[in-house]
Amino acid sequence: MDIKKMVRGSLVNASPYIPGKPIEELERELGISNIDKLASNENPCGTPEVAKKAVKDCLDKIYLYPDGESFNFKSVIAKTHNIGYDRVFTGNGSDELLQIVMTAFLEPGDNVISSQYTFTRYGQMAKIAHGEYRQAPMKDGMRYDLEAMAALIDSRTKMIIIANPNNPTGTIVYDKEVRALLDKISDNIVVILDEAYAGFVESAKYPDALKLQAEYPHKPVVMLRSFSKIFGLAGLRVGYGTAHPDIVKYINVVRGPFNINMLAQAAGSASMLEAAEHAQKSKALCSEEKKYLYENYKKLGIHYFESEANFVLIKLADEYDGRLVGDELLRAGIIVRPMKAWGLTDNYMRVTIGTAEQNRRLIRELTRLLGKDARTARVVNGK
Ligand SMILES: Cc1ncc(COP(=O)(O)O)c(C=O)c1O
Repeated sequence: MDIKKMVRGSLVNASPYIPGKPIEELERELGISNIDKLASNENPCGTPEVAKKAVKDCLDKIYLYPDGESFNFKSVIAKTHNIGYDRVFTGNGSDELLQIVMTAFLEPGDNVISSQYTFTRYGQMAKIAHGEYRQAPMKDGMRYDLEAMAALIDSRTKMIIIANPNNPTGTIVYDKEVRALLDKISDNIVVILDEAYAGFVESAKYPDALKLQAEYPHKPVVMLRSFSKIFGLAGLRVGYGTAHPDIVKYINVVRGPFNINMLAQAAGSASMLEAAEHAQKSKALCSEEKKYLYENYKKLGIHYFESEANFVLIKLADEYDGRLVGDELLRAGIIVRPMKAWGLTDNYMRVTIGTAEQNRRLIRELTRLLGKDARTARVVNGK
């Protein structure tokens, strides 16, 4: 078998997405327990009780197929956002929905435009969907530059993807910037607003995607949301989106008939209907803890990018060896996300905002590792 001749040409050199290191893996590798995972932007407040109850209430029914139409869940979403039922679609996490939208729209040779330093899945998915992926440089402050992205548009551009807030930088694009882009581009370019972290945003400059959809009815604007973050359902895989009914029609053609399972539908509905308090608590914790972290990052001489999400991108001073610091944090039982795979140096790390206790432990360990006699300084590392 010559696999390289058999597999699709565009995938020969592709690699799978590498998620944050699981707690179990670190336990196995280092034989330690009491591990804090601050690597995958999960919710330290956990899952709302109403969602857990909804899952338990379903357990006697899981021998049946789920409702392939996801009727109840979609009705709850439509009602919550005060939009038509035919504008809503649901999926096995927003990750699956990104893939579905790309599959529905891309022909071989079409291109997808996004930014440097963004969610790495966009490029992988574009490739899987036969598309070409283009990334524009960022603006200062690690922000998307929508003008630079617009400059990459050509006759084969089918899609623009904006992670808002962006992962891994935590920065947002502003309402006026999205409007300027929409005013400029063709009505035949799909604009995806990937709002996985919308629940944490505090800035008044954040666009209201539903309002944009209403105000730009001729533009194919797709909003994607996730239940993995603010609603703490990452393990169940629940996502949804809103778009023009004509777009939703084709999303329904591409998606699998039972793409969102019964437990996910039930937990998603219950969360949306009854977990506003949990979402509020999660947002407040994140906001409060961000202040603590910023203050302490500053004291430690660690550069940080102000974030509108539940994680912060940090950069250690050049005198430290970020790879060593990351390794030492692992040894101390703290998993953060090294940013090498994003094309940044080892000194950049993305750190999820945890509980107050987890964040204090993180700062304690960083203080130790970056202290005067730290072994993590580059000079000690033979440089
Ligand atoms: C920007 C962004 N979009 C989408 C997703 C996918 O989220 P999920 O599939 O869990 O809904 C993530 C996950 O981390 C993300 O960071």
